Amino acid sequence: MLGIETSCDETAAAVVAGDRRILSDIVLSQIEEHRPYQGVVPEIAARSHLDHIDRLIAQALKDARCGWEDLNGIAATAGPGLIGGVLVGLTTAKAIALVRGLPLVAVNHLEGHALTARLTDGIDFPYLLLLVSGGHCQLLAVEGVGLYRRYGGTVDDAVGEAFDKTAALLRLDYPGGPAVEAAALHGDPKRFTLPRPMAGRPGCDFSFSGLKTAVRHAVAALPGGEADPESAADLAAAFQAAVADVLADRAIHAIARFREEFPAGDRFVVAGGVAANTRIREVLAGAVAAQGMQFVAPPATLCTDNAAMIAWAGLERLRLGLTDSLEFAARPRWPLDELPAQPGDAP
Ligand code: KG4
Ligand code: ZN
Repeated sequence: MLGIETSCDETAAAVVAGDRRILSDIVLSQIEEHRPYQGVVPEIAARSHLDHIDRLIAQALKDARCGWEDLNGIAATAGPGLIGGVLVGLTTAKAIALVRGLPLVAVNHLEGHALTARLTDGIDFPYLLLLVSGGHCQLLAVEGVGLYRRYGGTVDDAVGEAFDKTAALLRLDYPGGPAVEAAALHGDPKRFTLPRPMAGRPGCDFSFSGLKTAVRHAVAALPGGEADPESAADLAAAFQAAVADVLADRAIHAIARFREEFPAGDRFVVAGGVAANTRIREVLAGAVAAQGMQFVAPPATLCTDNAAMIAWAGLERLRLGLTDSLEFAARPRWPLDELPAQPGDAP
């Protein structure tokens, strides 16, 4: 299966085999093109995907040592994401599917993240999933392909977004997540006291805007109203610790509900770009183990956006006969609980 990912600022192509072998996995980051703007510019992203996608697909096939005739399908991200970019990848996939007579699978990007642990660790359904990325922060029970039960989500910012905004406040590098993590390594998490929004409250919802505002106030209170490198490191460490605590608290609530609904389920999976954060993985692993559940986190490179996860979601769907027509329309907004799970379900 060939996978294509173009929903944000990474152009990616990968070939994955049905026995979970990743035969090739190429990710081209557009970070340098967006850096002057400190954020992803949709028009620049779409043009850049268009400039590189053909070459990347050819390279992915070459790396996998396979030709078109060796493929059993084409999977492309069809949403959610920046529509210009999604259209580039999906239209390319449709053209290949038409010319080569291959089935098309229109993949929900979030389902790509959600099923990655089955590619990397071969785990069975059901499992509890914490999906933490640039645009999303959700806890879900994953019952099967296309079968998601949402336990909670953010009421304001996504967690990756909070990392990115905090990095900007601290004048750290772009993109923010890895920059905050790097700065936090030298920081004292105890110098500043930041809130733990939602912690201790019933349910599984998150809120991060108050945490970001607390960082803003802390920066404003520093001499000159700006963070010197030492203060930036201390605030980065305090912010990361607060996020980790909140995620662990919410995860514990979700585990209680998951146990009631799925007594046989014993795995907790973390996925999405923020799951690449080592400290967050450590704190979550400890909290999950203390609840007697098994913690599963894919390697960091498969937590951030990639096409291997899209190819894998394509394989899972193809196996169930869940292919899509060439008329499938890209969806800028596409919640996980609106996915087709049976052949013939409306997309
Ligand atoms: O899943 P992803 O690559 O793209 C989306 O689907 O959104 O997630 C990107 C997000 C960004 O907000 C980025 O800052 C964050 O994940 N991220 C991290 C780390 N690496 C990426 N956040 C915290 N620590 C990291 N090491
Ligand atoms: Zn993503």
